[in-house]
Amino acid sequence: MKKIAVLLLAVLMMASTVVGCSNSQTDSKAALAEVKTEKNKADASDVNVGVCIYKFDDTFMTGVRNNMSAQAETLGAKLDIVDSQNKQPTQNEQVDTFITKGVNALAVNPVDRTAAAPLVEKAKAAGLPIVFLNREPEANVMKSYDKVWYVGAKAEESGTMSGELIADYFKANKSADKNGDGIIQYVMLQGEPGHQDATLRTMYSVKAIEDAGFKTQKLAADTAMWDKVKATDLMNTFISSQGLDKIEAVLANNDDMALGAIEALKAQGYNKGDKSKYIPVVGVDATAPALSAMAEGSMLGTVLNDGENQGKATVNIAVAAAQGKEINKETIGYDVKDGKYVWIPYVKVTAENYKQFQK
Ligand code: GAL
Repeated sequence: MKKIAVLLLAVLMMASTVVGCSNSQTDSKAALAEVKTEKNKADASDVNVGVCIYKFDDTFMTGVRNNMSAQAETLGAKLDIVDSQNKQPTQNEQVDTFITKGVNALAVNPVDRTAAAPLVEKAKAAGLPIVFLNREPEANVMKSYDKVWYVGAKAEESGTMSGELIADYFKANKSADKNGDGIIQYVMLQGEPGHQDATLRTMYSVKAIEDAGFKTQKLAADTAMWDKVKATDLMNTFISSQGLDKIEAVLANNDDMALGAIEALKAQGYNKGDKSKYIPVVGVDATAPALSAMAEGSMLGTVLNDGENQGKATVNIAVAAAQGKEINKETIGYDVKDGKYVWIPYVKVTAENYKQFQK
């Protein structure tokens, strides 16, 4: 009996040693990870990234910019961010200045995406990595240098999602077809001409409505340059040229313009809670004011343009490339397509899920 007890004690002691050992292994793993993070931080502290944003006065890009700064801080890298004031020549000069100052990488949100070639030439001549974001350079420019990357989102995806929001609304609300002609009469507020997001969101939103089985009729469409105030003016023009009772849906290429259109509708007593005076309005971005408009019921829906991950991916690439690392999922935490493209997915935002995007 005594023998058995001694044996049991020995087994227990051995087991506790093993457990103790595995605990300390976990501890040392965690410590190692911490050391690694600290080391990465230290490594990135001598990385300085020169960043140009097409203009600071843009709601969505302000979010991206803030997320870039936060990510740089996490990695311990330095970012020097400048406002290109919507002028391509200014941006070109800013890139020259960054190169003269000796930055280790460039991140550029071009003013004119079709004028990216000279920027790539400058980066190439200086041997610097260059990451474009939000405004996609042409494919031949992307191919012209091995240290050029693009971070963005597939514009057609956001167009499709915003069209689906309208189609679902018309399926659920037969009276939304105000004149009962079986056709959705809409107006379209477009972003900046030539911007891939403006062209493709316009095209794919209408395609999605039609793919859902509806006929559509464009009453009017024009650009409001991503801008809320311009969108209010444009919507007022649409209202006076078309008549409010003819407009059955408002599609906007971004939230600021959707909110501008809502201002114009509200001034006419629409979208203020009276169900007989409501026109569905959709946008893209999921900005804080758009989510508030959804909460108060003046805006039907939007699509999350994920500025947080776009900002993070851009900084991760710039820093890793400055450190001479290969750019792949392991080094930057995002899938890299064709060695050059990081695509951040959009998310449809409806009355059911908008709360989860409010910060
Ligand atoms: C789009 C965004 C717009 C505007 C634009 C600037 O992706 O939806 O709100 O920020 O980029 O290039």
